[in-house]
Amino acid sequence: MNHFPKLFSPFKIGSMELKNRIVMPAMETHLCNEEGHVTDAIISYYSERIKGGVGYVTVENTAIDPAGRLNDGMLCIFEDKFIPGLRKLTDAVHELDGKIVIQLSHGGKEALTYFTGLDPVSPSSIPSPLTKQTPKALTVKEIHDLVKKFADSGKRVYEAGADGIEIHMAHGYLVNQFLSPEANIRTDEYGGNTENRARFAVEIVKAIREQVPQDYPVICRISADEYTDTGIKLEEGKLHAQMLEKAGASAIHVSACNSASPFFNIPTYYLEEGCFTHLAEGVKSVVNVPIITVGRILGPEYAEKILEQNKADLVAFGRVLIGEPHMPEKAKAGQLEELRPCLSCNKCINSIMDRKLTCTVNPAIGKEAAIAAMPKPLSKNVLIIGGGPGGMSAAETAAKRGHKVTIWEKENELGGNFRYSTLPPFKEPMRNMLKYLVNHVNQHGINVQLNKEATTESVMEFAPDAVIAAVGSKEVKLELPGVEDADIIDIKDAFLNVNELGKNIVIVGAGPEGCELADFLSSAGKNITLLEMKRIIGMGLIAHPRYHIVERLKKANVKMIISTKVVKVGKGYLVVKKRREEEQRLDGFDHIVMSTLNKPNKDLAESIQDFVKEVAVVGDAVSGRTALEAISEGMEAALKL
Ligand SMILES: Cc1cc2nc3c(=O)[nH]c(=O)nc-3n(C[C@H](O)[C@H](O)[C@H](O)COP(=O)(O)O)c2cc1C
Repeated sequence: MNHFPKLFSPFKIGSMELKNRIVMPAMETHLCNEEGHVTDAIISYYSERIKGGVGYVTVENTAIDPAGRLNDGMLCIFEDKFIPGLRKLTDAVHELDGKIVIQLSHGGKEALTYFTGLDPVSPSSIPSPLTKQTPKALTVKEIHDLVKKFADSGKRVYEAGADGIEIHMAHGYLVNQFLSPEANIRTDEYGGNTENRARFAVEIVKAIREQVPQDYPVICRISADEYTDTGIKLEEGKLHAQMLEKAGASAIHVSACNSASPFFNIPTYYLEEGCFTHLAEGVKSVVNVPIITVGRILGPEYAEKILEQNKADLVAFGRVLIGEPHMPEKAKAGQLEELRPCLSCNKCINSIMDRKLTCTVNPAIGKEAAIAAMPKPLSKNVLIIGGGPGGMSAAETAAKRGHKVTIWEKENELGGNFRYSTLPPFKEPMRNMLKYLVNHVNQHGINVQLNKEATTESVMEFAPDAVIAAVGSKEVKLELPGVEDADIIDIKDAFLNVNELGKNIVIVGAGPEGCELADFLSSAGKNITLLEMKRIIGMGLIAHPRYHIVERLKKANVKMIISTKVVKVGKGYLVVKKRREEEQRLDGFDHIVMSTLNKPNKDLAESIQDFVKEVAVVGDAVSGRTALEAISEGMEAALKL
C-alpha cells in the first residue's frame, strides 16, 4: 500500500524522470579532498541516500571558480580535471538506478580569502555581514568572465554524466548578492532595478542552456525572501522566478535568507515545520515550471499535505536525509516509527565550520559503505551502564549487530538527563528522539533493568564481555559561602517541580540547561533572573538554537545578567560581583536554582578494566556537554564491539 500517494508519484523535470517527489537539497559535506575532488566517502554518502529511495540527490555547493570556493571543504568543478571524480560519483548513483543533480556555486564575498588566497568579489564593495570581508566590486568584463565560468562548469556537469544542474542563487552567495538590493548597489546594467540586478542570473541560465541539450534540467535555487529588512521580499522573488523561467530554467527551488539572516536559513527547532513553504506557494502562483519547496519539512505527512494543497511540486528534505537516509523507503512502506527523527539541532551545519559533516543522530556519515561491509562480530554479552541517550543508542546499535545486550539504569525509567531537555517549549524533536530510542530498545529484545545501580562488584558478578559506560557526568555542587543554609534547588528538581516553585526565581548558570530552564519557567509564568559568570548567555549551545532561545528569553523579560560571579548566597538572596564593581546584593527570590559543575565520570569504568575485556566510556561521562553528543558516541562505541 502506498501511504503517501502524492509524495510517491512519479514526476519529470525536463528530461529527468523521477520515481517520487522527494528531493535531497544541496548540503555541504566537506567529504571531498582538500583540492575539491570527489572521494570514496562522498560516493558512500550520496549512494546511501539513493539506496534509501530519494527521487534525486543534489550534490553540494560545487565551486565554479577558485575565488568562489568558500573553504577547503568545498567540491570543485572549475577545471576539466574534476570531471573524472564527478563521473565516478554519477556512475555510482546510476548503478543504483538513482538520479543526481550537481549544484554550481560561487561564494562571492563569503568565500574566505584565508582559504582561497584571492580577493573576495561581489557586485558592490559592501562588507559581508558574516565574514566581515570587504569584497572587490566586479568589473563588467569580470562579470562576463564569471558567466562563462558558470557555463563551462555547467558543461562539465553534463559531461560528468549528472542528470541535471542546479545553480545556487540563494543564501547570500554571489548570484544572490547580485539579485539582492542589499548587496548590489551598482549603477550600471547589473544594478539598480530588479531586472538589472537579475541580469547576471539570467545570463548564467542562458549561457548554461547553450551548453546542454534543450530539455536538460537547469534548476535555479533562489532566496525568495532574504529575511532581512532591506533585502529581497517575496514579491521581488516572484519576479526573479519569472525572469529565470523565461531564460530557460527547468524548475525553481525556493529557499530563503542570506548571510545576514543565517539563523533562519537552516531553521532550527524554534521555527515551525515548513517555514518557507508559503514562499514556494507564492512563486508557484506566477510560474509554470515545477517548484521545489524546502525548509524544516520533517516528515512524509507534512510533505504529502504540501503536495495535496498544490503549494509545490516537489519537497526537499535536507537534514532529515542526513539523519535518516532511508526516510523515503520507510515512509513508503508506512514504517513511520522506524524513522530516526531529525532534531533540527543544527549540529550538522555547525560541524562543517571546521571539519567534516557530522550529525547528532547519525554517526555513519561518509562511512556508510564501510559500516555495511563490516563483518558481523561474534555475539558478545554487552552491558550498557546508563539508560540515557548514549546508553540507549549504544544498546540499539549493539543489538542490531547481533550482540546480547543488557542495560542497567539506576533510575526508574529510561532517558537520563535527556528527559529534562525534552521539557522546554519547542523541544518536540527531542521528545520524538527519546520516544524513538525507548521504542528501539524495546523492539530489539534488549534486557532493561531499571533501579539498578552498577558497582564494581555487580559488574564482576555479571561478567560481561564488554561494557559501555554511559553513566552521565559527576555532578558537583558549587561551593559558595552560605550554600548550606540557602535552600538551593538544582536544575533537575526545578524542571520536575515547577508548580511548587514561587514566582521569583534566580537561575545561576546560563549554560544550555540554565537557558532552557529559564525558557521553561518563564513560559510557566515565573519571573526569572538568569545570572552568568561568563560574557555569553547559552555558551555550549549551537549558534542557531542559541540565537532563538536568547530572543525568547528577551521577549519573556528574563533579566539576563552576564560577567557576574556569585560570591555568597542566603535564603532568597545572592551577593554578586561584576569585575571592577562593588559587590551587590540581589534580593527577593522565592527560589534559587543552581547549575552543577559537570565533571568526567570514569571511576567505575576504570575499576572494571582489569576484568572486562572491552570498556568504553561515552557521553557526559567523558566530559559534560549537551546530551546530543552522547547519541553518536554511544553508536560509535557499539560499532567498535
Ligand atoms: C550541513 C548543511 C550544509 C548545507 N549546504 C548547502 C549547500 O551547499 N547549498 C545550498 O544551497 N544549501 C545548503 N544548505 C541548506 C540546505 O540545502 C537546506 O536549504 C536547509 O538545510 C533547510 O532544509 P531542511 O530544513 O530540510 O534541512 C546546507 C544545509 C546544511 C544543514
